[in-house]
Amino acid sequence: MKPRVLTILGATGTIGVNTLDVVARHPGRFEIFALTGATQVERMVEQCRTHRPRFAVMSEPAAAAELRARIAEECLAVEVLEGAAALTEVATAPEIDTLMAAIVGAAGLPATLAAARAGKRILLANKETLVVSGQLFMDAIAASGAELLPIDSEHNAIFQALPRDFDGDFQQAGVKALWLTASGGPFRTLSAEAIAAATPAQAVAHPNWVMGKKISVDSASLMNKGLEVIEARWLFNARPEQIKVVVHPQSIVHSMVEYADGSVIAQMGTPDMRTPIAYALGFPERIDAGVSALQLMGRQLSFEAPDTARFPCLQLAFDALVAGGNAAAVLNAANEVAVARFLEGAASFNAIAASIAHTLGKLANGAAHTLDDLLEADRQARRVADAYLGQLRA
Ligand SMILES: NC(=O)c1ccc[n+]([C@@H]2O[C@H](COP(=O)([O-])OP(=O)(O)OC[C@H]3O[C@@H](n4cnc5c(N)ncnc54)[C@H](OP(=O)(O)O)[C@@H]3O)[C@@H](O)[C@H]2O)c1
Repeated sequence: MKPRVLTILGATGTIGVNTLDVVARHPGRFEIFALTGATQVERMVEQCRTHRPRFAVMSEPAAAAELRARIAEECLAVEVLEGAAALTEVATAPEIDTLMAAIVGAAGLPATLAAARAGKRILLANKETLVVSGQLFMDAIAASGAELLPIDSEHNAIFQALPRDFDGDFQQAGVKALWLTASGGPFRTLSAEAIAAATPAQAVAHPNWVMGKKISVDSASLMNKGLEVIEARWLFNARPEQIKVVVHPQSIVHSMVEYADGSVIAQMGTPDMRTPIAYALGFPERIDAGVSALQLMGRQLSFEAPDTARFPCLQLAFDALVAGGNAAAVLNAANEVAVARFLEGAASFNAIAASIAHTLGKLANGAAHTLDDLLEADRQARRVADAYLGQLRA
């Protein structure tokens, strides 16, 4: 069998590391063309040593310079590139057939969209790409014949629970609703007062999943579920009212599809991102992921409604989805700014939802036809959210 040739955007992050772990379990099956990171030079050196890519890209020029020196020291045959244009170059190179899109945030959009236009098989972890550019991205996939496989555990679960030939027609497939499960995050049982006083350390301590800091804060605010609602709308052509959210603190049921005959098909497993990653890497074959077997004996599974009063970000995301146009891009950018400030200790946890609501109120009625429209909405939303958070501090 010819090996699949891969570029991994965001190789130095949590999803990137898990992807390389699965790849290493299947010698000869995958070939690494390029790995990318932003700041973590030593981790990239270690990955280059182990996986011998042709290219290593650091989006930060200073990190790229440092990496070049380290690669020379180690006498590795890896070419080091830098900057955002190089991300697109390695995501669209004719040599690759598969892209793992695992950069965090809207920073991943240009290269991932370019890969969609170039007709690659895209394993999509970078949900912000789809949140920001939904229609544009799906149009690019349809036009080029690219293949899109979801990595988010919830969407991967839904993908597995839908008929293999599902083409977005709910009626035809007898699908009534998509049920996204949410762990509820570390603040699920906290009072509104305790949430208001929450620290970054508390927010990143997720009960079930090990993840990057940004998605961990998103999980604590339930914005992660909100972004996933928007992601589900585009991935599966769902209307907002066909997407339901249920809190399931054990993170065993990764999501479900409800059918017209009353059947509900769920995908379950140990909470370990290597399962959806292996599913997408091997698709349509099932391959070993190194994941420990699900232990159900003695386990209790519970389900509850999300509380949008304590966690307003989820409702804000539904509102942005219904509003359409540039609203989801504005929501995403405002969230990225607020989460970064919160992690720096320069904004409170509740300021995240407040600044998103404020920014949506100011900007969410613009066009979203082109990548430039979306990038402009992103830039403006960052400015408005930043100014608002600055005022709150003053
Ligand atoms: N972790 C999970 O379990 C999980 C589950 C589902 C979906 N996702 C999604 O997957 C994506 C990645 O999540 P993660 O948890 O792996 O994040 P992470 O651990 O923070 O890793 C992010 C990766 O992106 C790189 N990066 C950061 N800013 C960048 C920029 N401006 N330009 C180019 N590269 C940049 C980082 O490089 P350096 O580290 O070198 O700075 C790193 O390689 C997110 O969209 C997240 O929502 C994650």
